[in-house]
Amino acid sequence: LTAFLNGQFAPLDTLQVSVMDRGFLFGDGVYEVIPVYNRQPFRLEEHLQRLENSLAAIALVNPYSRGRWAELIHAIVAAQDFEDQSVYLQVTRGAAWPRNHALPAQVTPTVLIYADELAAPLPAMVEQGVTAISAGDIRWLRCNIKATALLANVLLRQMAVDAGVAETVLFRDGLLIEGSSSNIFVVSQGEILAPPPSHLMLTGITYDLILELAQQHALPYRVCEITEQQVRDADEVWLTSSSKEVLALVQLDDQLVGDGKPGPVFREMHRHYQQFKR
Ligand code: PDD
Repeated sequence: LTAFLNGQFAPLDTLQVSVMDRGFLFGDGVYEVIPVYNRQPFRLEEHLQRLENSLAAIALVNPYSRGRWAELIHAIVAAQDFEDQSVYLQVTRGAAWPRNHALPAQVTPTVLIYADELAAPLPAMVEQGVTAISAGDIRWLRCNIKATALLANVLLRQMAVDAGVAETVLFRDGLLIEGSSSNIFVVSQGEILAPPPSHLMLTGITYDLILELAQQHALPYRVCEITEQQVRDADEVWLTSSSKEVLALVQLDDQLVGDGKPGPVFREMHRHYQQFKR
């Protein structure tokens, strides 16, 4: 796998960064995951806009223009053997001595870009749906930043793995927030409900696309606070992310969602999503 690190293209397994990199020591960095279909990065502008927002939020000067980012990503995509890929990119603040929480005066950011074969959702996951557990949201209050510091997300996701389910759905103060690495939608009485973007969640590129597709196809939708009870009483619950696209959640904790099968609004949205992708 050809990757990019700090201005150089080289095989991923040969790349090395300093142990004093603040990404390593403090989780001081931000990232993006961009799906690639038929060698075309999907929603690239949106991902690069979110990257700019994340960098600005942590006071890290963007090392490249948007055009340069696009060139680098296209070069990485061109260097792989796969038609469908997943591009991972991250920018950390860079290596600085001595270790000190405060931002170093002079530091060069560390930029990594690599791509791997896209792990598309299995047809069975689309047809039968996936299951989830719920948990209280133990993360910080700046979840709108796509930060590489993901320890809480890691622990929350492992709870799902240990329970043999696909995702952990997070609630805070009785309200639906998102999943450990996905956004969550609800369908209630034929209406698609989406939690309002805030500092408590990461607004997915897929989240925005789902609402755009709802608008385009005149599916009723509303962005509003969603209570835990509304999720448990919902006719449908969906999970979205760049890698999972849109999947139906058919069981939450010990309880089936609706009749325990992917619902009609999900199937319609999934179809629109697949059409839009190609
Ligand atoms: N995760 N919320 C969180 C906490 C996420 O980590 C992600 C994505 C999303 C969905 O965002 P998008 O639709 O832009 O993929 C929501 C990525 C895929 C990851 O960490 O691998």
